[in-house]
Amino acid sequence: MWLSLLLLAIAAASPVVVQQSPQQQVLGGIEIKSPSSSKLHGRFLHITDIHLDPFYEPGSSPRKSCHRGKGKAGYLGAPGEGCDSPEILLNQTFDWIERNLKDKIDFIVWTGDSARHDNDERIPRTETQIEELNQAVVDKFMEVFGEKKDGGRNKPTIPIVPNIGNNDVMPHNIFEKGPNKCTRKLGRVWKPFIPEEQRHTFLQWGWFYTEVIPSKLAVVSLNTMYFYESNAAVDGCAARSEPGYHHFEWLRVQLQLMREREMKAILIGHVPPARSGKRQNWDESCWQKYTLWLHQYRDVVVGSMYGHMNLDHFIIQDSREATLDAAADNLPSFSSDDEHDQNITTQSKFGYLSSLREEWARLPSPPSGVELGSDLEALKGRKKRKKKNKRKRFLKKIGGPYAERYSVSLVSPSVIPRYYPTIRVFEYNITGLEHAVTWADSGSHVSMDSERAQRETELNKKKLPRIPSPPSKSAPPGPAYSNQPLTLLNYIQYYANLTQIENRSKLDGELSALEYEVEYHTHQDDIYHMRDLTMPSFFDLATRIAGNSPAASSVDIEKKRKKKKKKGSKKDNKVWRAFLNRAFVGFLDDYELDGVE
Ligand SMILES: *[C@@H]1O[C@H](CO)[C@@H](O)[C@H](O)[C@H]1NC(C)=O
Ligand SMILES: *[C@@H]1O[C@H](CO)[C@@H](O)[C@H](O)[C@H]1NC(C)=O
Ligand SMILES: *[C@@H]1O[C@H](CO)[C@@H](O)[C@H](O)[C@H]1NC(C)=O
Ligand SMILES: *[C@@H]1O[C@H](CO)[C@@H](O)[C@H](O)[C@H]1NC(C)=O
Ligand SMILES: *[C@@H]1O[C@H](CO)[C@@H](O)[C@H](O)[C@H]1NC(C)=O
Repeated sequence: MWLSLLLLAIAAASPVVVQQSPQQQVLGGIEIKSPSSSKLHGRFLHITDIHLDPFYEPGSSPRKSCHRGKGKAGYLGAPGEGCDSPEILLNQTFDWIERNLKDKIDFIVWTGDSARHDNDERIPRTETQIEELNQAVVDKFMEVFGEKKDGGRNKPTIPIVPNIGNNDVMPHNIFEKGPNKCTRKLGRVWKPFIPEEQRHTFLQWGWFYTEVIPSKLAVVSLNTMYFYESNAAVDGCAARSEPGYHHFEWLRVQLQLMREREMKAILIGHVPPARSGKRQNWDESCWQKYTLWLHQYRDVVVGSMYGHMNLDHFIIQDSREATLDAAADNLPSFSSDDEHDQNITTQSKFGYLSSLREEWARLPSPPSGVELGSDLEALKGRKKRKKKNKRKRFLKKIGGPYAERYSVSLVSPSVIPRYYPTIRVFEYNITGLEHAVTWADSGSHVSMDSERAQRETELNKKKLPRIPSPPSKSAPPGPAYSNQPLTLLNYIQYYANLTQIENRSKLDGELSALEYEVEYHTHQDDIYHMRDLTMPSFFDLATRIAGNSPAASSVDIEKKRKKKKKKGSKKDNKVWRAFLNRAFVGFLDDYELDGVE
């Protein structure tokens, strides 16, 4: 506390930052305004699932993992196939990041799976190889973001927060309670990225956090391997003997400390908490705690981001399903092994996306004419009594005007060209943070002052109630619910159309450089047009995606009929179609999406 006050005092007393004229920058066709006086840019990168493969051979056969034979493996990758990423894709992706993002982002979240799949019997993976492939990606980060001091690059200039993927461990999916070989190896490779004071925790458990804006915002790197259904070495989060149990105890202590310090947190992980249709990625007891923790710490958590599924989508958690009662029966878990059969994968992905839509169709429907994402204020102003009652009932159902009953997890698609390679850039609200001390200013790490360390010890010793305490009654809605400093405002999804680039290269007779272009921008986009990335905006989007879904009609046939009369029956739902198309990074042809409901 004293230290942060001191830092704030220093920041306030330091010479006034020279006011620069607002810079207009063009980033892949999107105009980006950089705030003038702040050292923060209000922007960060999410990159995931690189799956670097040193054995990739252009011109080889995708049926032989793009290692041998003759086939259509391109020089930058084989979109739509089960192959991993060639080194040149990694290089060119980082070249693009250097040219376009280098001095425009505040931090990076990197959600795992940097190593190749174990997909070729002739070239089995080794532990050393996994370490080397992670090292290769670390080297790339350091080439672009490393501090150049005396030729050495031992420190990044901005915080980079890594996370353990199910293919960063050996054998894949299996991760024992630490300390183990994996936490030691990754701890060594990721050393520049793990704060000194967190190294011990990382070696023990494989989780940690970084204060990416000291005393303001932390990124918490969750070890989802302890939640993952396919990890046969652990068993959920209910029993004290399980690392998953300790993960949630640690997480609540950290979120509690952050609440007390008036800090906010972004949670990141590799395997997302998907739990729809035939798919359940996490053990139910872990999902329950996660959902409950997000609800109880809704004043602290800014958002949560994942990778792993190579599928662009989001997940809504309903806190009313998190009862912590004896974990409900698990749904049949999705086996990640069929990842290699493209056919099955695409079909099962359609099924999964449809099940999300069905769930969203069951969300309480807003009174007519009300869009939660944009009409909250208008909603408050309504006078007619009948409408008022309807409105009240609706708001009660969703947890008040900020839809606090729910929380959202965002899943970014991958660099590995399962479809097209892609990366995501978030913008967040930096109003009022003009004078915040940055990570670089603070000497790249915030040392734990004794008062804080003492408080942490105290919380760890205390017998905490089973359910974490909610925000105080007087607390305003958190950054994930109402636009305020640190709220996520939008993201831009960038992708590289490998089909086009390969075609151009063939025509030109030389390899063209990889260019990422804008796939969509959540705010500027005509279809999503999200005001920001708060829960009310996602609630609104989910409702629009679900509109006219087969499930919606079975829920409330009468209402639907009335609506149809008013609007005219529009069978095609543009928003659902866009959601579906974007899930696959625009790779699938239109006709392939026909009939998916
Ligand atoms: C990728 O970049 C590294 C250096 O950063 C270089 O050593 C390597 O040869 C490059 N690989 C390709 C395929 O261009
Ligand atoms: C792939 O899926 C399509 C449509 O479901 C089916 O007609 C086709 O036979 C499948 N191909 C293989 C190789 O399984
Ligand atoms: C950031 O939050 C403040 C409220 O604290 C709000 O006034 C402002 O409009 C927000 N900025 C953006 C760009 O949405
Ligand atoms: C490749 O580019 C040429 C010229 O721009 C175009 O005519 C052709 O349709 C393209 N092929 C594919 C598969 O995109
Ligand atoms: C990618 O490029 C191909 C070939 O030019 C084109 O047919 C296709 O529509 C493009 N896809 C996207 C999503 O840009």
